Amino acid sequence: MTGKKLLIKHAAELITCAGPAPKTGAAMADIGIIPDGALLAEDGIIVWVGPTADLPVDSEDGWEVIDAAGQCVMPGFVDSHTHMVFGGYRAEEFFWRLGGTPYLEILERGGGILSTVQATRQASLAELKELAAKRLSNMLEMGVTTVEGKSGYGLDKETELRQLAVMDELNREQPVEIVPTFMGAHAVPPEYKGRTDEYVEYIIKEVLPAVAEQGIAEFCDVFCEKGVFSLEQSRRLLEAAKTMGLRAKLHADEIVPLGGAELAAELGACSADHLLQASDAGIAALGQKQTVATLLPMTAFCLRESYARARAMIDNGAAVALATDYNPGSCFSHAIPLVAALAAIQLGMKPAEIVTALTINGAAAVNRTDKVGSLEKGKQADIVILEYPSHLFLVYHAGMNIVDKVVKQGQLVLN
Ligand code: NIG
Ligand code: FE
Repeated sequence: MTGKKLLIKHAAELITCAGPAPKTGAAMADIGIIPDGALLAEDGIIVWVGPTADLPVDSEDGWEVIDAAGQCVMPGFVDSHTHMVFGGYRAEEFFWRLGGTPYLEILERGGGILSTVQATRQASLAELKELAAKRLSNMLEMGVTTVEGKSGYGLDKETELRQLAVMDELNREQPVEIVPTFMGAHAVPPEYKGRTDEYVEYIIKEVLPAVAEQGIAEFCDVFCEKGVFSLEQSRRLLEAAKTMGLRAKLHADEIVPLGGAELAAELGACSADHLLQASDAGIAALGQKQTVATLLPMTAFCLRESYARARAMIDNGAAVALATDYNPGSCFSHAIPLVAALAAIQLGMKPAEIVTALTINGAAAVNRTDKVGSLEKGKQADIVILEYPSHLFLVYHAGMNIVDKVVKQGQLVLN
């Protein structure tokens, strides 16, 4: 998909997020704001960014012009952690949890993720695709131009491949770019109950090779958690995936502190996600390595868990990304505005850090910093235009969707 010639001018704030990526530590607050900013894109690629007064065009003829006066122009959001292809819902479970039943106990009893597995196994590719397409269009309305999506509700070869096939097809049929992740190690399916090692073996011998052969996943993710997959099992899976060309991600230290952050850093994972219970050593390790710390505050909110220590991570030099974790269980929401509000209010992140975390650092978490996440010459023209003049409104207008327009690869896809 390519766009025609696009000219955006008079943005009250044009936020570039330019510079070395990912942004780590103090650099996360450096988002490159250009007052009265402008941008030119041709064939979907940004060709110039700067102050409106310096626009290098003599005439606007032949350009599609957007006058962004009174508005904030910024890179499209990268939601770098979702589980958006699934069948069925789990509304009752939300209230069981509020009634005091722990998330992991529901899973242990065969509910939770396993209840979605049952519904997803029963759903056809067409059914899953229709549901996911609707979700993607809702995400686009909130300014998401790139999204990561995980399998992990099949837990058998056929259904895992079906989930990935849904993402593959949707990638060609709608504007939000999907980065596919294989997550066959999301839970242990009922047929392997009590035989986790054998299930790990099955994934490594049977499923991963099929995924790699079809070339329909870029990452491999594992739910490293007490009673799910241990550190050792996670390591085996991610090392095997690496030999088949899939980069590592890890659901790390979400509910019980196991040392997932340390493992992710040691393996050179692209990201370590959740991190609610990450230890001091884990946080230090993330600060020393290129592994992005992906925080998902809506999940902590919905599970009523404590929030990740974002300030310690940033102060230790880590690259923090923010994402929704959209899924039918622990967080049935893809509300970027709520992520931004929680990041400010509960994680203590500054508005500029939040912008970085939702754009260029999200891009780093999905290995896309060469293409998306910032408004710089040579990058894709993936752009969000806010109804208001400053990025501060992302937090201040709490929980509200303030996206006015979305541009994907130079094309106005939401107006
Ligand atoms: O990131 N924790 C594991 N996976 C998801 C939840 C999936 C589900 O509950 O369906 C998460 O929170
Ligand atoms: Fe998740």
